[in-house]
Amino acid sequence: MKPLKLGIAGLGTVGGGLLGLLQANGTHVANIIGREIRVTGISARNQSKERGIAVDGVEWFADPVALARDPSNDVFVELIGGEDGVAKAAVEAALSAKKHVVTANKALLAKHGVELARLAETNGVALNFEAAVAGGIPVIKTLREALGANRVKRVYGILNGTCNYILTQMQSENRAFDDVLKEAQALGYAEADPTFDIGGFDAAHKLALLTSLAFGTRVAFEQIHVEGIQSITQADIEAADSLGYRIKLLGVSMETESGIEARVSPVLINKDSAIAEVSGVTNAVAIDGNFSGNILLVGPGAGAKPTASAVAGDILDIARGLVVPPFVTPVAQLKAHRRAKLDQH
Ligand code: NDP
Ligand code: HSE
Repeated sequence: MKPLKLGIAGLGTVGGGLLGLLQANGTHVANIIGREIRVTGISARNQSKERGIAVDGVEWFADPVALARDPSNDVFVELIGGEDGVAKAAVEAALSAKKHVVTANKALLAKHGVELARLAETNGVALNFEAAVAGGIPVIKTLREALGANRVKRVYGILNGTCNYILTQMQSENRAFDDVLKEAQALGYAEADPTFDIGGFDAAHKLALLTSLAFGTRVAFEQIHVEGIQSITQADIEAADSLGYRIKLLGVSMETESGIEARVSPVLINKDSAIAEVSGVTNAVAIDGNFSGNILLVGPGAGAKPTASAVAGDILDIARGLVVPPFVTPVAQLKAHRRAKLDQH
């Protein structure tokens, strides 16, 4: 079988992690799927930056959009970030050129997911985004595939590794908020603009995608109530602890009588519950299906290796010929009553 050729735009935490994974596990992957995965083009802002990864013989593109259009690759992997700008232009260019896209960019999908999904469906290509929600946890595949036959009553969890890292370190090590945030940035967990993390917006981007998959609605980021952790103090954490609680930034989405309610906010969780024990950069996502029961997925929510693992899983699906519509139903056929219910909210 012919190799599957990748163009990778963005060689930072996640892009670097992906190149590392392909180098370390490339032979293993080729044996498993019977097909070589080959990187043929790369792009980033600064060509001369020392990245510690060998990319000899791989063509450099100064412009990610040119890489997205380049016919020598089959799959465009967008790991730049940002809800508009070059990431959006490049993804649109790739889909329009009938090229499969894999992205970790939840901000882009929360804002433009519907139009990009439509573009992917129109062109008969994949738009895969496992890494966009909860890092290394395979929650998109779980919701869309393994639990796809359930009616989901509720989906909730810890969706931002940076915030959970900050809250955990404040709790267990008595460290200052700003100090831990700086460390999370240095470890590659935080977004380019960390306001997205601590303001709750990154968790809300992810919740918008989960909500769409869980309930078959359009992606509706603007209807999510968002509160971050900026105002949480050491005194709050100590007070919660003395009453038997942990403070966690939780994203919750559920079907109610009046429609789907979705919110991101810091909440008090009983110390004895499984989710209260989820610490550090770890994420947890609970999916309550009407036949499956409540399923809790726990794992690394950010960082180079876990996120690269999720991106690579999406690439493997494409190599195997699996093309699933980006959201639960083809966007053009979203159920009207569901959409109306969400709009009422
Ligand atoms: P980084 O900031 O580490 O990397 C971004 C990369 O994009 C860099 O290589 C940068 O180039 C490149 N870049 C930025 N602007 C341009 C441009 N105009 N043209 C070409 N290249 C550009 O980000 P991350 O790797 O952390 O994140 C990438 C995506 O993955 C984001 O959407 C993020 O939300 C998502 N994500 C991140 C996770 C994480 O743990 N970090 C986890 C899950 C998802 P250069 O290196 O030259 O500066
Ligand atoms: N900034 C994000 C987080 C990266 O901390 O969870 C993973 O999406």
